[in-house]
Amino acid sequence: MTEGLEVVVLAAGQGSRMYSARPKVLHEIAGRSMLERVLDVVDELDPCRTHVVFGHGGAQVRDAIDRPELNWVCQAKQLGTGHAVAQAASHFGNGTVLVLYGDVPLITVATCERLLAGVTRDSVALLTALLKNTAGYGRVVRDEAGTIARIVEEKDATPEERAIKEINTGILATDAASLRRWVQALETNNAQGEYYLTDVIQLAVGDGKRVHVTQPNAMEEILGINDRQQLAYAERRFQRRQVRALMASGVTVSDPDRVDIRGDVSAARDVVIDVNVVFEGDVHLAEGVRVGPNNLIRNSVVGENSEILANCVLENARVGRNCRVGPFSRLRPGTELGESVHIGNFVEVKKSSIADRSKVNHLTYIGDTEIGRGVNIGAGTITCNYDGVNKHRTVIKDDVFVGSGVELVAPITVESGATIGAGSTIGRDVPADKLTLERSRERTISSWKRPSKASSSKTG
Ligand code: UD1
Ligand code: CA
Repeated sequence: MTEGLEVVVLAAGQGSRMYSARPKVLHEIAGRSMLERVLDVVDELDPCRTHVVFGHGGAQVRDAIDRPELNWVCQAKQLGTGHAVAQAASHFGNGTVLVLYGDVPLITVATCERLLAGVTRDSVALLTALLKNTAGYGRVVRDEAGTIARIVEEKDATPEERAIKEINTGILATDAASLRRWVQALETNNAQGEYYLTDVIQLAVGDGKRVHVTQPNAMEEILGINDRQQLAYAERRFQRRQVRALMASGVTVSDPDRVDIRGDVSAARDVVIDVNVVFEGDVHLAEGVRVGPNNLIRNSVVGENSEILANCVLENARVGRNCRVGPFSRLRPGTELGESVHIGNFVEVKKSSIADRSKVNHLTYIGDTEIGRGVNIGAGTITCNYDGVNKHRTVIKDDVFVGSGVELVAPITVESGATIGAGSTIGRDVPADKLTLERSRERTISSWKRPSKASSSKTG
């Protein structure tokens, strides 16, 4: 725990420009709400206390965030950023307070740490940025000596002040006792009639403090999200950041703009990821794994040197080493593949284990099944696992050969080495090492004639 550190996250804004039933801070970046993203950063800073100021959609926000350690502070009326911090001020201890924002989701731990290093007995720390397009931001006003004097909001600024390129990001840190005093002294004599948090800079200077300035490593870090365009932009920046980390660890990515990671992907060396791949939840790709184009992989593990060919969906699946899955396969939850297993096109596997060297190559459904080693499942085979009420298990032992178009009506066990003839519907256990088949006798009717089209009258 970082001794004496407290964080205030402002999250009371309505986000009217999102045009949404959801509070703004619950909109997601890479599958996780913006507020959670900020709180993830806070976690790493490891403060002794975190205050979240909520207002609009308060109940919805609190329900969505399952973190019992948070101190939720209600700001019933949004009277300004200074007013928001003031709501939390009575909870402050005697250490340092860092102010973050629930709608500035790409801030990094590194930048926060550098900022915090600027807080001393004699100085407050302010995160600023030099921007070409400064519209909407507060400007950092310096005196002739270049020392920061105050921040002026755009709506209150003179034309000269508006020309200033150094903007206030809103993120700052200072000692708790002073901040408490300053936010309680704020007034609303400004263009918006709000309590501006930014006015604490002037109060700090008045108290003889220096303003220590830090700048973010990347501009995206200070991006505030107000509408869906900015949300989409932040999403792409965040994805880029994740993909860069993957590439840095030895993964080949065909196009960094065409991979989406909505969760955590760990990948060993020499993994290759083709275009349009979406990862969700926790995914691990072992060394040498190749992921083809258009795959969705969620909460799954893929073993060494296995290949996921194009257009597959994997969910809560474990794929062993040297496997080949796809194209067009669906591995549903509870799928466990051993080594060198092949799953081919239009094959669905659910809650089933398939052991080493077995092949299920075409148009098949395998559900609630245990398949042994070296088994070959023919095209169009279906395990009939559901009787309309209950699910039943199928057990297929080692070295079984199932011909094409077979229906295995569960519960059923196929003993090792058995062969099942194509087109059979099998409802009883199948003995080992024999051919079992079920087929009606084939007939040819010699006298049969193909019907011809009835002649129709050509009226109308
Ligand atoms: C603020 C800064 C501005 C800075 C900009 C950076 C002030 C007065 N101005 O302006 O200098 O350049 O951020 O983006 O601080 N919020 C509350 N309660 C409130 C008001 C706001 O929780 O009563 C939250 C909002 O949800 C939002 C954040 O504070 O997350 C910023 O509020 P916003 O009104 O967007 O401030 P800006 O006008 O953008
Ligand atoms: Ca804003």
